Amino acid sequence: MAAKNRKPKLQPGADLDAAVELVRSRLGRSRPALAIILGSGFHGVSALVRAKASFDYGDVPSFPRTGVKGHSGRLVVGTIGDLPVLLLSGRAHYYEGYSMREIGFPVRVLAELGIRDLLVTNAAGGINRRFKVGDFMTLTDHINLMGANPLRPDRAGEWDGRFQDLSAVYDAELGALVKRAARAARVRLRSGVYLAVSGPSYETPAEIAAFGRLGADAVGMSTVPEVVTARHCGLRVAGLSLITNPAAGIGGGEITHTEVMETGQLAESAAQTLVAEFCRLYLTR
Ligand code: HPA
Repeated sequence: MAAKNRKPKLQPGADLDAAVELVRSRLGRSRPALAIILGSGFHGVSALVRAKASFDYGDVPSFPRTGVKGHSGRLVVGTIGDLPVLLLSGRAHYYEGYSMREIGFPVRVLAELGIRDLLVTNAAGGINRRFKVGDFMTLTDHINLMGANPLRPDRAGEWDGRFQDLSAVYDAELGALVKRAARAARVRLRSGVYLAVSGPSYETPAEIAAFGRLGADAVGMSTVPEVVTARHCGLRVAGLSLITNPAAGIGGGEITHTEVMETGQLAESAAQTLVAEFCRLYLTR
């Protein structure tokens, strides 16, 4: 049916086309199938990439810029090992004032460029009491408590009429690759449900206790906008969290962004090895 094949109308076509054209003009013969979004704790992965081209987010039309410390905001095309990849290093957040739809925009650009698979990474607070700071978690599912949805347009009349299915958001094959990569990298990998809040405040202990009862294992302020947009574009998705702190009321004391960043730095080489192994296995899958 023609309607089924129509491009989603959620993003203004001209903006999307301009961003895609710019990046495509620098791709050369490289045709990456995998893109990786680097969140807090995963920025060291940039150092693994042999870059062929890179763009400041500010130079790509309509790309949301990020102002959070530790997020550089660069789109990099290159290789990790022998695998062509496209990296989004740094992300815009809902708590910065962007709409969910704006945060999803870079993912639409990836889809237009031919990306098929997306590995989304983030820092998260551990709700599950078995989790330790420095553990990684592969996402089995998520709970969206951000209070908004990236598929809802900012203006009436721009919805594409699709009720996106989210019954299997995180891809089983990619999830299995993450598990194999963790074994090869000798890092401790948990699996669990990621719950997304809007931020920018951290949670109260009562909220965390409630989220635990809802079935959440970790909490964060990102990922869901990109992941839901990716599913809308037909991409397969894997999600990976670094547990940077015990969530509020779970053992630790006050939660600070500094603590989150420090755990990220301590786990940098583990995150690098894990992602490098994922790329190696992705290539030979
Ligand atoms: N809560 C929300 N987001 C986070 C946390 C947290 O405890 N840690 C890292 N990102």
